[in-house]
Amino acid sequence: MAQDEKNHVKDKQLMSKMLYQMVHEHKTVDINGRERQVTGGVSQEEIEFIKSLIIERKCRTCMETGVAYGISTVAICEALSCLGSGCRHYGIDPCQYSEFNGAALAALKECGLDRFFEHLDGPSHEMLPKLLDRNVKLDLAFIDGWHTFDYTLLDVFYADKMLRPGGILLIHDMDLPSKRKVWGFLKTHRRYKRIEYMADKSKFGYLINVFKGLFQAKRSVVKKAILGLIGIDRLLVLEKVENWEPNYNYFKNF
Ligand SMILES: C[S@@+](CC[C@H](N)C(=O)[O-])C[C@H]1O[C@@H](n2cnc3c(N)ncnc32)[C@H](O)[C@@H]1O
Repeated sequence: MAQDEKNHVKDKQLMSKMLYQMVHEHKTVDINGRERQVTGGVSQEEIEFIKSLIIERKCRTCMETGVAYGISTVAICEALSCLGSGCRHYGIDPCQYSEFNGAALAALKECGLDRFFEHLDGPSHEMLPKLLDRNVKLDLAFIDGWHTFDYTLLDVFYADKMLRPGGILLIHDMDLPSKRKVWGFLKTHRRYKRIEYMADKSKFGYLINVFKGLFQAKRSVVKKAILGLIGIDRLLVLEKVENWEPNYNYFKNF
Protein backbone atom coordinates (compact mmCIF):
# COMPACT_ATOMS: atom_id res chain seq x y z
CA MET A 1 0.00 0.00 0.00
CA ALA A 2 1.37 3.44 -0.90
CA GLN A 3 2.36 5.76 2.00
CA ASP A 4 -0.36 8.25 1.06
CA GLU A 5 -3.03 5.52 1.13
CA LYS A 6 -1.69 4.20 4.47
CA ASN A 7 -2.04 7.71 5.94
CA HIS A 8 -5.65 7.92 4.80
CA VAL A 9 -6.46 4.58 6.43
CA LYS A 10 -4.85 5.79 9.68
CA ASP A 11 -6.73 9.13 9.52
CA LYS A 12 -9.99 7.25 8.93
CA GLN A 13 -9.41 5.22 12.09
CA LEU A 14 -8.57 8.32 14.11
CA MET A 15 -11.49 10.50 13.05
CA SER A 16 -15.23 10.13 12.98
CA LYS A 17 -16.73 9.53 9.54
CA MET A 18 -18.24 13.03 9.48
CA LEU A 19 -14.98 14.83 10.33
CA TYR A 20 -13.00 12.67 7.93
CA GLN A 21 -15.41 13.57 5.11
CA MET A 22 -15.25 17.28 5.88
CA VAL A 23 -11.50 17.53 6.46
CA HIS A 24 -10.10 15.10 3.90
CA GLU A 25 -12.80 14.73 1.24
CA HIS A 26 -13.90 18.38 1.60
CA LYS A 27 -17.58 17.54 1.39
CA THR A 28 -20.68 17.76 3.53
CA VAL A 29 -24.45 18.01 3.14
CA ASP A 30 -26.64 21.04 3.93
CA ILE A 31 -30.12 21.08 5.56
CA ASN A 32 -31.75 20.40 2.19
CA GLY A 33 -29.60 17.31 1.66
CA ARG A 34 -27.55 19.00 -1.03
CA GLU A 35 -23.85 18.20 -1.18
CA ARG A 36 -21.55 21.16 -0.44
CA GLN A 37 -17.85 21.59 -0.89
CA VAL A 38 -16.12 22.36 2.41
CA THR A 39 -13.66 25.20 2.21
CA GLY A 40 -11.61 26.07 5.27
CA GLY A 41 -11.84 24.99 8.88
CA VAL A 42 -9.53 23.53 11.48
CA SER A 43 -7.02 20.81 10.53
CA GLN A 44 -6.94 17.20 11.68
CA GLU A 45 -4.07 17.95 14.09
CA GLU A 46 -6.00 20.88 15.55
CA ILE A 47 -9.13 18.74 15.89
CA GLU A 48 -7.23 16.06 17.78
CA PHE A 49 -5.63 18.66 20.04
CA ILE A 50 -8.87 20.55 20.78
CA LYS A 51 -10.78 17.34 21.49
CA SER A 52 -8.18 15.96 23.89
CA LEU A 53 -7.92 19.35 25.65
CA ILE A 54 -11.69 19.45 26.22
CA ILE A 55 -11.74 15.88 27.51
CA GLU A 56 -8.62 16.14 29.70
CA ARG A 57 -9.65 19.45 31.26
CA LYS A 58 -13.34 18.56 31.41
CA CYS A 59 -14.43 21.71 29.56
CA ARG A 60 -18.19 21.18 29.82
CA THR A 61 -19.32 24.60 28.56
CA CYS A 62 -17.77 25.84 25.32
CA MET A 63 -18.34 28.69 22.88
CA GLU A 64 -17.04 29.44 19.40
CA THR A 65 -17.30 32.41 17.09
CA GLY A 66 -17.40 31.30 13.44
CA VAL A 67 -19.16 27.98 12.78
CA ALA A 68 -19.11 27.78 8.94
CA TYR A 69 -19.46 24.13 7.80
CA GLY A 70 -18.95 23.03 11.39
CA ILE A 71 -15.64 21.19 11.46
CA SER A 72 -14.64 22.76 14.78
CA THR A 73 -18.26 22.56 15.97
CA VAL A 74 -18.57 18.82 15.35
CA ALA A 75 -15.13 18.25 16.93
CA ILE A 76 -16.07 20.21 20.07
CA CYS A 77 -19.45 18.45 20.38
CA GLU A 78 -17.82 15.03 19.86
CA ALA A 79 -15.53 15.81 22.80
CA LEU A 80 -18.49 17.01 24.91
CA SER A 81 -20.31 13.74 24.20
CA CYS A 82 -17.45 11.97 26.04
CA LEU A 83 -18.05 14.10 29.14
CA GLY A 84 -21.67 13.06 29.64
CA SER A 85 -24.92 14.99 29.92
CA GLY A 86 -25.31 18.65 30.82
CA CYS A 87 -22.54 19.84 28.47
CA ARG A 88 -23.22 22.78 26.18
CA HIS A 89 -21.61 24.36 23.14
CA TYR A 90 -22.67 27.81 21.91
CA GLY A 91 -21.79 28.59 18.29
CA ILE A 92 -22.10 32.11 16.90
CA ASP A 93 -22.38 32.69 13.15
CA PRO A 94 -24.44 35.22 11.18
CA CYS A 95 -24.12 33.28 7.93
CA GLN A 96 -25.04 29.71 8.97
CA TYR A 97 -28.27 29.89 6.91
CA SER A 98 -27.50 32.58 4.34
CA GLU A 99 -24.12 31.23 3.25
CA PHE A 100 -23.85 27.65 4.49
CA ASN A 101 -27.54 26.68 4.28
CA GLY A 102 -27.42 25.10 7.73
CA ALA A 103 -24.59 22.71 6.82
CA ALA A 104 -23.11 22.67 10.35
CA LEU A 105 -26.54 22.10 11.90
CA ALA A 106 -27.17 19.25 9.45
CA ALA A 107 -23.79 17.67 10.27
CA LEU A 108 -24.47 17.82 14.02
CA LYS A 109 -27.92 16.27 13.56
CA GLU A 110 -26.51 13.52 11.38
CA CYS A 111 -23.98 12.67 14.13
CA GLY A 112 -26.59 12.84 16.91
CA LEU A 113 -24.68 15.73 18.50
CA ASP A 114 -27.26 18.51 18.05
CA ARG A 115 -28.45 18.09 21.66
CA PHE A 116 -25.22 19.71 22.87
CA PHE A 117 -25.38 22.68 20.53
CA GLU A 118 -27.06 26.08 20.48
CA HIS A 119 -26.65 28.29 17.43
CA LEU A 120 -26.71 32.05 17.96
CA ASP A 121 -27.72 33.50 14.63
CA GLY A 122 -26.00 36.86 14.35
CA PRO A 123 -22.62 38.60 14.45
CA SER A 124 -20.54 37.98 17.56
CA HIS A 125 -20.61 41.63 18.67
CA GLU A 126 -24.39 41.28 19.03
CA MET A 127 -24.57 37.68 20.29
CA LEU A 128 -21.76 37.64 22.88
CA PRO A 129 -23.38 40.37 25.05
CA LYS A 130 -26.54 38.22 25.03
CA LEU A 131 -24.62 35.21 26.35
CA LEU A 132 -23.00 37.41 28.99
CA ASP A 133 -26.43 38.71 29.95
CA ARG A 134 -27.58 35.09 30.42
CA ASN A 135 -24.73 34.70 32.93
CA VAL A 136 -23.11 31.92 30.88
CA LYS A 137 -19.76 30.78 32.32
CA LEU A 138 -17.30 29.22 29.89
CA ASP A 139 -14.65 26.54 30.25
CA LEU A 140 -13.41 27.03 26.69
CA ALA A 141 -13.77 29.71 24.01
CA PHE A 142 -12.65 29.24 20.41
CA ILE A 143 -12.24 32.45 18.40
CA ASP A 144 -12.60 31.90 14.65
CA GLY A 145 -15.22 34.41 13.41
CA TRP A 146 -14.55 37.62 11.47
CA HIS A 147 -10.75 37.83 11.42
CA THR A 148 -10.04 41.57 11.54
CA PHE A 149 -8.37 43.07 14.62
CA ASP A 150 -11.47 44.90 15.88
CA TYR A 151 -13.87 41.94 15.69
CA THR A 152 -11.31 39.52 17.12
CA LEU A 153 -10.58 41.91 19.98
CA LEU A 154 -14.30 42.15 20.77
CA ASP A 155 -14.65 38.35 20.65
CA VAL A 156 -11.74 37.99 23.06
CA PHE A 157 -13.01 40.81 25.31
CA TYR A 158 -16.40 39.12 25.80
CA ALA A 159 -14.96 35.61 25.96
CA ASP A 160 -12.69 36.76 28.78
CA LYS A 161 -15.68 38.10 30.73
CA MET A 162 -17.32 34.66 30.58
CA LEU A 163 -14.27 32.41 30.95
CA ARG A 164 -13.66 31.05 34.41
CA PRO A 165 -10.07 31.19 35.77
CA GLY A 166 -8.35 28.04 34.52
CA GLY A 167 -10.51 28.14 31.38
CA ILE A 168 -9.06 27.85 27.87
CA LEU A 169 -8.97 30.52 25.18
CA LEU A 170 -8.14 29.37 21.65
CA ILE A 171 -7.48 31.81 18.82
CA HIS A 172 -7.23 30.43 15.31
CA ASP A 173 -5.28 31.72 12.29
CA MET A 174 -2.44 33.31 14.22
CA ASP A 175 -0.52 33.64 10.96
CA LEU A 176 -2.64 36.82 10.49
CA PRO A 177 -1.16 40.06 11.93
CA SER A 178 -4.65 41.09 13.13
CA LYS A 179 -4.78 38.03 15.41
CA ARG A 180 -1.26 38.54 16.70
CA LYS A 181 -2.15 42.15 17.62
CA VAL A 182 -4.96 40.79 19.81
CA TRP A 183 -2.45 38.46 21.50
CA GLY A 184 -0.39 41.60 22.21
CA PHE A 185 -3.44 43.12 23.92
CA LEU A 186 -3.97 40.01 26.05
CA LYS A 187 -0.34 39.94 27.14
CA THR A 188 -0.48 43.52 28.39
CA HIS A 189 -4.10 43.85 29.56
CA ARG A 190 -5.19 40.45 30.95
CA ARG A 191 -3.63 37.48 32.75
CA TYR A 192 -3.28 34.48 30.46
CA LYS A 193 -0.54 31.91 30.14
CA ARG A 194 0.36 30.20 26.92
CA ILE A 195 0.02 26.45 26.67
CA GLU A 196 2.36 24.94 24.13
CA TYR A 197 0.31 23.50 21.32
CA MET A 198 2.84 21.33 19.50
CA ALA A 199 4.20 18.58 21.73
CA ASP A 200 7.78 19.35 20.72
CA LYS A 201 8.49 23.07 20.72
CA SER A 202 12.23 23.10 20.09
CA LYS A 203 13.43 24.33 16.69
CA PHE A 204 14.88 20.87 16.22
CA GLY A 205 11.47 19.34 16.93
CA TYR A 206 9.84 21.53 14.29
CA LEU A 207 12.55 20.58 11.82
CA ILE A 208 11.88 16.90 12.46
CA ASN A 209 8.17 17.56 11.89
CA VAL A 210 8.95 19.17 8.51
CA PHE A 211 10.65 15.93 7.43
CA LYS A 212 7.96 13.77 9.03
CA GLY A 213 5.29 15.71 7.13
CA LEU A 214 7.23 15.41 3.87
CA PHE A 215 7.72 11.67 4.41
CA GLN A 216 4.03 11.17 5.24
CA ALA A 217 3.02 13.46 2.32
CA LYS A 218 0.97 15.61 4.73
CA ARG A 219 1.01 19.21 3.58
CA SER A 220 -0.76 20.48 6.72
CA VAL A 221 1.95 18.97 8.97
CA VAL A 222 4.72 20.52 6.85
CA LYS A 223 3.00 23.93 6.83
CA LYS A 224 2.44 23.91 10.60
CA ALA A 225 6.03 22.86 11.29
CA ILE A 226 7.42 25.61 9.02
CA LEU A 227 5.21 28.18 10.77
CA GLY A 228 6.46 26.78 14.09
CA LEU A 229 10.05 27.12 12.91
CA ILE A 230 9.54 30.83 12.32
CA GLY A 231 7.76 31.16 15.65
CA ILE A 232 4.09 31.05 14.56
CA ASP A 233 1.56 28.37 15.51
CA ARG A 234 -1.74 28.69 13.64
CA LEU A 235 -3.56 27.89 16.86
CA LEU A 236 -2.86 29.98 19.96
CA VAL A 237 -3.72 28.12 23.15
CA LEU A 238 -4.07 30.10 26.35
CA GLU A 239 -5.13 29.33 29.91
CA LYS A 240 -6.81 32.08 31.88
CA VAL A 241 -4.78 32.62 35.03
CA GLU A 242 -7.19 34.88 36.90
CA ASN A 243 -9.94 37.46 36.54
CA TRP A 244 -7.86 40.59 36.21
CA GLU A 245 -8.12 43.91 34.38
CA PRO A 246 -5.81 46.93 34.67
CA ASN A 247 -6.90 50.13 36.38
CA TYR A 248 -9.06 52.61 34.43
CA ASN A 249 -6.11 54.93 33.64
CA TYR A 250 -3.72 52.17 32.52
CA PHE A 251 -2.18 52.39 29.08
CA LYS A 252 0.44 50.30 27.38
CA ASN A 253 1.25 50.00 23.71
CA PHE A 254 1.08 46.48 22.36
C1 LIG B 1 -12.99 30.49 9.18
S1 LIG B 1 -14.70 30.27 9.23
C2 LIG B 1 -14.93 29.26 10.65
C3 LIG B 1 -14.46 27.85 10.47
C4 LIG B 1 -14.91 26.92 11.56
N1 LIG B 1 -14.50 27.36 12.87
C5 LIG B 1 -14.34 25.52 11.32
O1 LIG B 1 -13.29 25.15 11.88
O2 LIG B 1 -14.98 24.77 10.59
C6 LIG B 1 -15.26 31.85 9.75
C7 LIG B 1 -16.76 31.94 10.03
O3 LIG B 1 -17.00 33.17 10.69
C8 LIG B 1 -18.29 33.59 10.36
N2 LIG B 1 -18.45 35.02 10.65
C9 LIG B 1 -18.37 36.07 9.81
N3 LIG B 1 -18.62 37.21 10.46
C10 LIG B 1 -18.86 36.87 11.74
C11 LIG B 1 -19.19 37.61 12.91
N4 LIG B 1 -19.32 38.95 12.87
N5 LIG B 1 -19.38 36.94 14.05
C12 LIG B 1 -19.24 35.59 14.10
N6 LIG B 1 -18.94 34.85 13.03
C13 LIG B 1 -18.74 35.47 11.87
C14 LIG B 1 -18.41 33.25 8.87
O4 LIG B 1 -19.78 33.16 8.51
C15 LIG B 1 -17.67 31.93 8.81
O5 LIG B 1 -18.60 30.90 8.94
